[in-house]
Amino acid sequence: MIEFIHISDTHFGPSKDLEIRGSNPYERNCALVEAINSLGFTPDFFVHTGDIVNDPDDDAYELAESVLSRLDAPVHYVSGNHDDAAATRKFMTSGSHVQLKGVGDKLAYAFRMGPRATGVVFDGWVAPDQGPHGFLSQSQVIAFEDLLQTTDDRFALFLHYPMIPIGSTWIDKHLLVENGEAVHSFLKEYRDRIAGVFFGHLHRGLQLHRDGILYSGVSSPVCHFTAGPVEETCEFSPNCGLAFNHVSISDHSTMVKEYSIPFVQG
Ligand SMILES: [Fe+2]
Repeated sequence: MIEFIHISDTHFGPSKDLEIRGSNPYERNCALVEAINSLGFTPDFFVHTGDIVNDPDDDAYELAESVLSRLDAPVHYVSGNHDDAAATRKFMTSGSHVQLKGVGDKLAYAFRMGPRATGVVFDGWVAPDQGPHGFLSQSQVIAFEDLLQTTDDRFALFLHYPMIPIGSTWIDKHLLVENGEAVHSFLKEYRDRIAGVFFGHLHRGLQLHRDGILYSGVSSPVCHFTAGPVEETCEFSPNCGLAFNHVSISDHSTMVKEYSIPFVQG
């Protein structure tokens, strides 16, 4: 059994007292780490599916590293629309991994999850003036296909952006992987070897099963998006729980346990 904890969208600011959308990311993320470390078990690893910081400046990454390095297992980081891949590499202590072939300086890599099981991190970042949707370059898909053809492993995939529509007008219009349907069509050919696709960005929990593939989103510990099924706009709810998911993968199943710990102001 492979056990990991999925977190996302910590949105650290450059200082401990900065508030973003009515929330203090530093205080909330400290409480999140403390809650996870108090669970009484140690996962094999953590995955942070991006938006580590709210603006990609050095002080924010240093603050993020000072808190997230307290997690008691290796952490694998994904690039979100608020992140900078080079700064993530520079400031965040990441679990051991191998860069995917031919993907340039994208934060796109593979790591060993367990026996015959590989995690693949995709980088869907696009320039801020084009986002906040994502895009998966062909080179990343080709690199993943190469792994599929050269090993018998099962895979879990990690990226920041939801790959396919989730049934919310605002989220589906603004936050998806732009070419996600095409990537989904590719993935479903290998559905038996994909334990799940894990992402953040939507600031809410989501479990979606389509064509035999599990798409699993985790919310943010800082603020939740309120966009309903048909709303064209989105508000931010700062009075949210501290969200994380505990994922267990076996040869034949993937189980996602969603947590939302009440935040008590210190
Ligand atoms: Fe975010």
